[in-house]
Amino acid sequence: MTATDDTQDPGPGGLRRSLSGIKSTGSPHLGNYLGMIRPAIELQQDHEAFYFVADYHALTTERDPERMRRSTYEVTATFLAFGLDPARAAFFRQTDVPEVCELTWMLSCITTMGELGQAHAYKARVAAGDAGKAVHGLFAYPVLMASDILIYDSNVVPVGKDQIQHVEMARDMAKRFNHHFGDTFVIPEALVREEVMTIPGIDGRKMSKSYDNGIDVLLPRNKLRKRVMQIVTDSTPLDDPKDPTDCNVVKLYRHFATPEQLAEMEESYRKGGYGYGHAKQALFEVLDAHLSPYRDEYDALMADTDTLEDVLRAGAAKARKIAVEVLGRARERLGYRRRPFPLAD
Ligand code: TRP
Repeated sequence: MTATDDTQDPGPGGLRRSLSGIKSTGSPHLGNYLGMIRPAIELQQDHEAFYFVADYHALTTERDPERMRRSTYEVTATFLAFGLDPARAAFFRQTDVPEVCELTWMLSCITTMGELGQAHAYKARVAAGDAGKAVHGLFAYPVLMASDILIYDSNVVPVGKDQIQHVEMARDMAKRFNHHFGDTFVIPEALVREEVMTIPGIDGRKMSKSYDNGIDVLLPRNKLRKRVMQIVTDSTPLDDPKDPTDCNVVKLYRHFATPEQLAEMEESYRKGGYGYGHAKQALFEVLDAHLSPYRDEYDALMADTDTLEDVLRAGAAKARKIAVEVLGRARERLGYRRRPFPLAD
């Protein structure tokens, strides 16, 4: 396949390719699930889905090899439990496709320090006054991410809002490379689900690992209930009517309840005589019913790392074939030799 511009030709087989990387930082919460995991998995219906554990990226912060290994399995088990189909999609480790590092170097040579200095994560370190302590990997993070995206001829990149800037940078690098060296890379597009960007955490702020206000999707039943009961509500007495449009419980409930269930809860709020405790119990029940089958599947997968390993290796083989092809194209454009065959696994 040749590279395209914004016309976004479909890839081989007629399907457009969706690609995303998942950094393994602890167990996923409802915000991760609704905002990224579920939409990404849904894309496998009409896209060739390529998803990977971003374990090269994880190295910017992770220094414990045992945790690195374990969290790779956790992310893999999570995606499989929630329905990623390894027969149609490719799920793999970033580090199993080392070609991505070679392309990172090429992209580094057409990306300026000034551009990278604009990236949010690095800028935050500068603002905090410790830019000098930021590792080079943090500074170069957007280049590796661009390489991740471009090396698979990706058309769409499902991400959360915080990653839009990185996808923009990948687009800029692709366009610049194509402009200088001739059509090489597909220009990718970020895919952001606006409607799920406002999942509140238990304290009402955006659900986020850094606020420690998340509800983990794989919590056992009793802990899930406890967490739901901690959701902050106002102090309107039980008997009084309540505003359903401004309540953290309702904001979460609407993502899991049927339209009828939601209408019923809203009606009870307006009528009064319905307390937040009742609402939380209802939320807990829909959450538990929705999540418990996934939880069981996750536990079974975590007890069977051989299967996880098979999935990761098969995914890497699929992904690497594309990566070698695209990297070969880039090498040729730059005046290097196109390597005749990939390195052995
Ligand atoms: N930077 C992303 C995050 O922190 C993870 C990531 C790495 C990624 N490479 C990617 C996402 C490529 C999309 C495409 O969430």
